[in-house]
Amino acid sequence: MSSALPSSVTVRVPAKINLELVVGPLRPDGYHDLSTVFHAVSVFDEVTVTPAPAWSVQVSGPYADLVPVGDDNLVVRAGRLLAERCGAAEAGPALVHIAKEIPVAGGMAGGSADAAATLVALDHLWGVGGRRDLWDECAAELGSDVNFALVGGTAIGSGRGEQIAPVLGRGRYHWVLVPSAQGLSTPTVFAELDRMRGAEATTVAQPRPGESMMQALRSGEVEALAAALRNDLQEPACVLQPRLREVVAAGQEFGALGAVVSGSGPTVAFLVDGPEGALDLAVALTASGVADEVVRAVGPVHGAHVVTSATP
Ligand code: C5P
Repeated sequence: MSSALPSSVTVRVPAKINLELVVGPLRPDGYHDLSTVFHAVSVFDEVTVTPAPAWSVQVSGPYADLVPVGDDNLVVRAGRLLAERCGAAEAGPALVHIAKEIPVAGGMAGGSADAAATLVALDHLWGVGGRRDLWDECAAELGSDVNFALVGGTAIGSGRGEQIAPVLGRGRYHWVLVPSAQGLSTPTVFAELDRMRGAEATTVAQPRPGESMMQALRSGEVEALAAALRNDLQEPACVLQPRLREVVAAGQEFGALGAVVSGSGPTVAFLVDGPEGALDLAVALTASGVADEVVRAVGPVHGAHVVTSATP
């Protein structure tokens, strides 16, 4: 390896919540057309890549036991895909270490975030040259939420979620997130929505961003955003995990301005008016026994970015 290249690279990547998720028709390829507003929040995984004789994954942190570390882990698929496409002489196997803080199977795109971070980290490790076009191409093949994790901020996602257009908004928002001890499988939640829609599952209208959501983001007004939160997967997620209804109701009762299940759930995101409101709500939710765990976060934050690049 050339001495100019780093010996290891660490990339920080945020979780996402969905401020709006409008699910359109079920497509012949099994995906749904959707219009979503992704919002990156300050809950981060850190992914470190180091050259190794073979691809392998290590995970640390509170959710480590829940992450599969075999070859089917999305980070290994990301590494192999970038190696195949980038053409760099240095593109060999790596040990990928994930310091995991993003809840697993929580609707916060933790696995997608790790895949995005791996693309950015390996690009630097191998000296590919910051090929954003290549990251985007690989990201779209890896999953519907990977492209957004590269960008972060607040952005509209369309297609199956992989087409990203940043939203210029002025707001900085405070959130209280309630993860669930039990995850929900994304395909199962989409399938439940299709079941609820019945014959209309393939014929519902093409999804579009909501006008009130766009106005709320432009104005930066927190009450307007609270009123515009929407997720078509919320009802199916609640059918599959009825306890979510209690969590949503309790947060509203304890003073949250707005509440929405994130993505396919089960994490519930509560919008509050500032850091003190966040602390008050977090205390009320845990003290009442409704939530075992709460996470305070702000958004928007930046997407995947290098934080450490060690030299040999
Ligand atoms: O692309 P990703 O791996 O995140 O998608 C996981 C699953 O979620 C898909 O296999 C599909 O069942 C469902 N999905 C969907 N429509 C989307 C995105 C995901 O039906 N737009």
